[in-house]
Amino acid sequence: MATHRLGIIMHGVTGRMGLNQHLDRSIVAIRRAGGVALPNGDRVMPDPILVGRNAEKVAALARQYGIERSTGDLDAALENPDDTVFFDAATTQMRADLVTRAIAAGKHIYCEKPVADRLDKAIAVAKLAKSRGIRHGVVQDKLFLPGLRKMRMLRDSGFFGRLFAVRGEFGYWVFEGDWGQPAQRPSWNYKKAEGGGIILDMLCHWRYVLDHVFAPVKAVSCIGATHIPSRVDEQGKTYAADVDDAAYATFQLEGGAIAHINCSWCVRVRRDDLVTFQADGTHGSAVAGLTRCWTQHRVNTPRPVWNPDVPQTMNFSDQWEELPENITYDNGFKIQWEDFIRHVVAGTPWKHDLTEAAKGVQLAELGLKSWAERRWFDVPKLEI
Ligand SMILES: NC(=O)c1ccc[n+]([C@@H]2O[C@H](COP(=O)([O-])OP(=O)(O)OC[C@H]3O[C@@H](n4cnc5c(N)ncnc54)[C@H](O)[C@@H]3O)[C@@H](O)[C@H]2O)c1
Repeated sequence: MATHRLGIIMHGVTGRMGLNQHLDRSIVAIRRAGGVALPNGDRVMPDPILVGRNAEKVAALARQYGIERSTGDLDAALENPDDTVFFDAATTQMRADLVTRAIAAGKHIYCEKPVADRLDKAIAVAKLAKSRGIRHGVVQDKLFLPGLRKMRMLRDSGFFGRLFAVRGEFGYWVFEGDWGQPAQRPSWNYKKAEGGGIILDMLCHWRYVLDHVFAPVKAVSCIGATHIPSRVDEQGKTYAADVDDAAYATFQLEGGAIAHINCSWCVRVRRDDLVTFQADGTHGSAVAGLTRCWTQHRVNTPRPVWNPDVPQTMNFSDQWEELPENITYDNGFKIQWEDFIRHVVAGTPWKHDLTEAAKGVQLAELGLKSWAERRWFDVPKLEI
C-alpha cells in the first residue's frame, strides 16, 4: 500500500472558517490520522502550503500546526506544478477571481461558498472548470450535519408520507460591538461593498439543503431587512451596516411542499439549536438541529386544547422521540474534504461541484431580486 502526496494551496486560512474548520479540523486532523484512505487501500497525505497577504501570520500558523510550507506570494504558489489543488476560504467578494486564476493555472479547485457574489460570475467559473477538465468542489457542509443526515434518512425511509411543509429557523444575536461585547462576525458581513449580507451568505446553503434533504427548489419569495443599521468593526470604528442582516424567505419545492426559512443575525435563541428545521408530512413530523433529530409519528400525535384561561399543561417538547445515534458522525467539513481528496486522486463519485455552487448563488440572487421587486421568482434550470 502506497502513500501519495497531494499538494494543496490553502488561501484564507487566517479567517474564521479557513482556520477552524478547514485547517484545524480538516487538513490538520486528516494529517494526524495518517491521511485519507483510497478505495484500493492506498493513502493520500495532504501537503498544504498556507498562503496569505501577511507572510508572517501564515508562517506563524504553519509553525503552530506543524506545516512545513507557507508564503505571502500567491502567484508563485500557483506556478508550482507539484501543488495541484487550490483551496479558498477568504472573503466572498474575492473568490471568483481567485478561483478563475487558479483554474487558469491548471489547479483543481475546492472552495467555500458562495463561489461568487453574482450568478454570471459563478456560471463563468463553472464553465471554465468544465472546459479545462479539472476537478472542482464547493463546501456544502450542512449536508454533512448529523441532524440533517438524520432528516434525510427519514425522508428516504418514507417516514413523512407526503411531505408538505418545511420550516427553518437560523440565527443568533451578533453583537453590535458598541457596548462591551465585541462582534463575533467579521465586519465585511455587514457591508454591501465588501460582499456582505445574510441573503447572499445563507440562501446558497438553503439551496443545497432544500434540494438534497427535502425536495428541489422551484420558486422563491424573500424579504430582507437591515435591523441593526450601525455596528462597530474590528478596529473599534463605527460603520453603517448597509446590507440585510435578516431575511424571511419562502420557497416552493417540487412535489408541492412549501418551505419557509427565517435567517437572522439579530435574533435571540429560544429553540433547540442555532439552526432548526421542522418537516411536516401526512404520516409524521420531524425536527432537526445541528446534531439531534426528533420525530412525532401520526399515531403519537397528541390532541392539545386551546384554552387561554389555563396555563399550558402539555410540555410539547416531551412529546417527541429522539433518533438514536446509530452512526458515529465525524466533522462534516472533514468528511467533505476526505471525499474531495478521494475524488481528485482516485476519481471517486462527487456531487458538490461548481455547478452546484452556481445554483446556490442563483437562489441568493433571486432572493435579492424578489426583495427588491417585491415578487415571486421561479428558479430556472441552470445550463452549464
Ligand atoms: N460553510 C459555512 O458554513 C461558512 C460559514 C461562514 C463563512 N463561510 C464563508 O467563508 C468565507 C470566509 O468567511 P469568514 O467568516 O471566515 O471570514 P473572515 O473575515 O474571518 O476571513 C476572511 C479571510 O480572508 C482573508 N482576506 C480578507 N481580505 C483579503 C485580501 N484582500 N487579500 C487576501 N486575503 C484576504 C483574511 O485574511 C481571512 O483569512 C466567506 O466566503 C463565507 O461566505 C462559510
